[in-house]
Amino acid sequence: MSDKPRILQALRLLPWLEAQLAQDYEVVHLPAEPQARQQFLKEQGADFGLLVTSAAHGIGNDVLEALPKLRMISSFGVGLDKFDLGYIGQRGMALGYTPGVLNDCVADLAFGLMLDIGRRLSQADRYVRAGQWGAPGAPAFPLGFKVSGARLGIVGLGRIGSTIARRASGFDMDVRYHSRKPVADQPWTYEPSLHELARWSDFLVVITSGGAGTHHLIDQSVLDALGSQSFLINVSRGSVVHEAALLSALQDKRIGGAALDVFEREPHVPSDFYSLDNVVMVPHIASATVQTRQAMAQRVLDNLRAHQQGLPLPSSAFAV
Ligand code: NAP
Ligand code: 8YV
Repeated sequence: MSDKPRILQALRLLPWLEAQLAQDYEVVHLPAEPQARQQFLKEQGADFGLLVTSAAHGIGNDVLEALPKLRMISSFGVGLDKFDLGYIGQRGMALGYTPGVLNDCVADLAFGLMLDIGRRLSQADRYVRAGQWGAPGAPAFPLGFKVSGARLGIVGLGRIGSTIARRASGFDMDVRYHSRKPVADQPWTYEPSLHELARWSDFLVVITSGGAGTHHLIDQSVLDALGSQSFLINVSRGSVVHEAALLSALQDKRIGGAALDVFEREPHVPSDFYSLDNVVMVPHIASATVQTRQAMAQRVLDNLRAHQQGLPLPSSAFAV
């Protein structure tokens, strides 16, 4: 039997991270199939003090309840919406996550999506591939919306939201933001009303945290305030946008368009979106670059190591 500490792995992770974990820990994979998982937890649940998972996957209380000796969870990602923080805190467990290291890439993707939906890049690519460019009788490619100098509304001026706001200066954009309270010491205008921000914006970028507090924050009334000439970008969580209301607004062209990295029931995307030219969709890739995923993986390891050494975690979800 190995003398390395045992760690329970909730899902497949970056191969580099898995290889590093295997050097320092005896890694055991949590079965995905419900019956096998239940049996496994019954037989071995009491053997684990450590668990590794991701922000997109999280971990349910049903699993945590079957792990009575769990002391620490290390999560790959910054979102905390898939964790019951009250329960985890009450059990006295540590929860490590990876804030900060992904700000640049999520902000970059927000701009990629803004440029794509505004300038119709994906649509233009489809036009060329379909052989429509210059084809007899083919419609001329429609004009896009200018991004430079546009009005950018940001919902959630946290670590990533403020990185997006800084990027906007290179595009000479006028930036305003909405969150529950104004953020001190920054140059952008606070808009206390989300509806007013939507009415004002050419591009409304959503980058709040997920969870119950932001569920369906972007509903039909916000989309109506955004209006037929403006665009919604969502890089936060699918749950923040009322997906059925968004679909209907796109179908009726009541908003100019939407660009989405995240969806309500990932990886499911309602197929009614597929035929629309006024939507751009990517599969939750905002942090998915070699450099950023490596930095996230390193933070997962650093959080685990600190916990094992009895030191404060570099990034604790319970930090004050
Ligand atoms: P953060 O620094 O905690 O920022 C979250 C922001 O959301 C804060 O400005 C907060 O301000 C605001 N907010 C929270 N509840 C709100 C509400 N009800 N109404 C308006 N604003 C609200 O977090 P971050 O590091 O920037 O990350 C933000 C989120 O992005 C993560 O939680 C994660 O879900 C998502 N994310 C997605 C990807 C991806 O791959 N697409 C990658 C990384 C992160 P107030 O508290 O003042 O309201
Ligand atoms: C990742 C994310 O895609 O950090 C987050 O909250 O949503 C993304 O960076 C995810 O954590 C990987 O599963």
